[in-house]
Amino acid sequence: MDLSTSFMGHHIQSPLVLGASPLSDSPDHCRELQDCGLGAMVMESLFMEQIEAEHRARFGRSGPGDDPDPERGPTAYLEKVRQLVDALDIPVIASLNGTASGAWARYAKLIEQAGADGLELNVYYLPLDDTESADDVEQRHLSVLTQVKESVQIPVAIKLTHFFSSPVNLGRRLQRAGADGLVLFAPLFHTDVDLETFTVIPALHGSDAGDLGSRLLWLAAMYGRVKCPLTLSGGAHTHLDLIKGVMSGASAVQMTTAILRGGPDHAASVLAGLRSWLEGQELESIQQLHGTMSLLQCADPQAFERANYMKALQTWKR
Ligand SMILES: Cc1cc2nc3c(=O)[nH]c(=O)nc-3n(C[C@H](O)[C@H](O)[C@H](O)COP(=O)(O)O)c2cc1C
Repeated sequence: MDLSTSFMGHHIQSPLVLGASPLSDSPDHCRELQDCGLGAMVMESLFMEQIEAEHRARFGRSGPGDDPDPERGPTAYLEKVRQLVDALDIPVIASLNGTASGAWARYAKLIEQAGADGLELNVYYLPLDDTESADDVEQRHLSVLTQVKESVQIPVAIKLTHFFSSPVNLGRRLQRAGADGLVLFAPLFHTDVDLETFTVIPALHGSDAGDLGSRLLWLAAMYGRVKCPLTLSGGAHTHLDLIKGVMSGASAVQMTTAILRGGPDHAASVLAGLRSWLEGQELESIQQLHGTMSLLQCADPQAFERANYMKALQTWKR
């Protein structure tokens, strides 16, 4: 059974990729996942704020609220890249997290020099400034990508939510700006209101099955029209979710919550389930499924369109 696929220009042994998370703190853990058949891994992010805090501390300009953490700062991050690259045979993708181009993005070069096989950019932020237009928000993504692409040779992918007026159009603009991959992800950061203390509670929840649908939809809409590899990162917990992601247009599927919860055993069972499902369908390769449920290729493209939305509402029953 051929599970191999491509991910950010790398040929990988399986479409299952570990998404950015603290699991990258442990090379031993990552090695166990690799031995279970993981295709590649993404490290947790180095944040723009961590780089800037260390820079201010180094030049004696830190102030209240600046508390650089040497364990999680940029120097420690570069060391972690080296350790993971030494420990693993699969591609190790580093991750930079920041919301506007700036001096911090020079770390991309240092990450490349530390040996990373690629870089994932996460530009996610909440556009709470009412003077910032939708185009300004998109422009931030484009300018961070352009700045990083100018400084490195390794492949650069960008993580994208679907919370844009026209996600496919933005995907195409990012691809034309040089993105070597788009990762459609679900932000897990939520806010709630505590009615006992009258405070806002920020919280990070793991994903659940409800997070998958939107990503399948936008993968299906982008496949074949955004001409760089697409990856799913949000709501994939089982081999069946992975199969749906590939059919919708993903060449690889990142899993984070499910692997954080279930560890290497879960990764192994996803890949065993995938193999046995493909055998049951008498398929020889995962590639035979790629994009088959995309908007361009599926037998019933109307399933994605407004007419179907109307029908779904009209046929609702209690
Ligand atoms: C504990 C935890 C830490 C995470 N850290 C990062 C991070 O550092 N950078 C990032 O881009 N995404 C981060 N994510 C988001 C995941 O990479 C992924 O996009 C998200 O969890 C959705 O995928 P899932 O449904 O497979 O969990 C984190 C998620 C979790 C649960």
